Amino acid sequence: MIVVKNLWKSYGSLTVLKGLDLTVNDGETVVILGRSGVGKSVLLRQILGIELPDKGEVDVNGMHISSMNQAQRYEAVKSMGMLFQGSALFDSMTVGENVAFYLRQHEKHLSEKEIKERVAHALKMVNLDDMESKMPSDLSGGMRKRAALARLIIYRPKIIVYDEPTTGLDPITAQHINELINRTQEELNATSIVVTHDIRSAIEVGDRLAFHHDGKIYKIAEKKAFLQDEDPILKEFFANAILSEEFLRKN
Ligand SMILES: Nc1ncnc2c1ncn2[C@@H]1O[C@H](COP(=O)(O)OP(=O)(O)O)[C@@H](O)[C@H]1O
Ligand SMILES: [Mg+2]
Repeated sequence: MIVVKNLWKSYGSLTVLKGLDLTVNDGETVVILGRSGVGKSVLLRQILGIELPDKGEVDVNGMHISSMNQAQRYEAVKSMGMLFQGSALFDSMTVGENVAFYLRQHEKHLSEKEIKERVAHALKMVNLDDMESKMPSDLSGGMRKRAALARLIIYRPKIIVYDEPTTGLDPITAQHINELINRTQEELNATSIVVTHDIRSAIEVGDRLAFHHDGKIYKIAEKKAFLQDEDPILKEFFANAILSEEFLRKN
């Protein structure tokens, strides 16, 4: 379970998080929607303990992330997985080596045979089983994203955070990523946060949807109630998101 309480974060004179509260229950996927630049990635960095908030608390499965020192946060973050906005594969390693990388670094007790089996399983899960010996530069954008997902699920993290997993992908590839997020959820029974401005993706993967606005979670609700909400700020966001999707499809 992830509990965020009264979170504040500023950069110089820019206050990005203004007393944000959010609870994500065990096994649940919450999708955070919001305009570009509103502070969604900043929020994820505080949850993962990559940065410390100015004020407030982050509690992840009982670990008080926001009051840990750096070494403790480094340990804590190992139980969490993050799919970053770019897929951030190492270009000089094969896909298989990329997927195995963190296992080789952090789980020294595993035999080479066990590592090979886990790599094969993770690649199979994202339908890249025939790509193990390819280089990242041989892969399409969607395949790179899937390889990054395989590198994440090989850890079997209990908390997974996705930052814009479908941004920049064509609709068919994006749909494939949505399905993989759901499959990962089923297999790992993880607690997940997905940040996106892709409403289609939000509907595919979310249990509850949240709207990040003006430094806070302005609204959070079950999917259907959220989509039917008559709040003018939400309606404006939906309309703009749909218009921009249409524009991108036509151009
Ligand atoms: N390390 C940083 N230093 C200064 N400003 C930052 C930093 N990180 C983010 N910001 C600013 O905080 C705001 C929110 O950024 P971000 O969380 O990346 O938005 P998004 O909702 O698109 O993910 C932006 O105005 C951004 O410029
Ligand atoms: Mg962002």
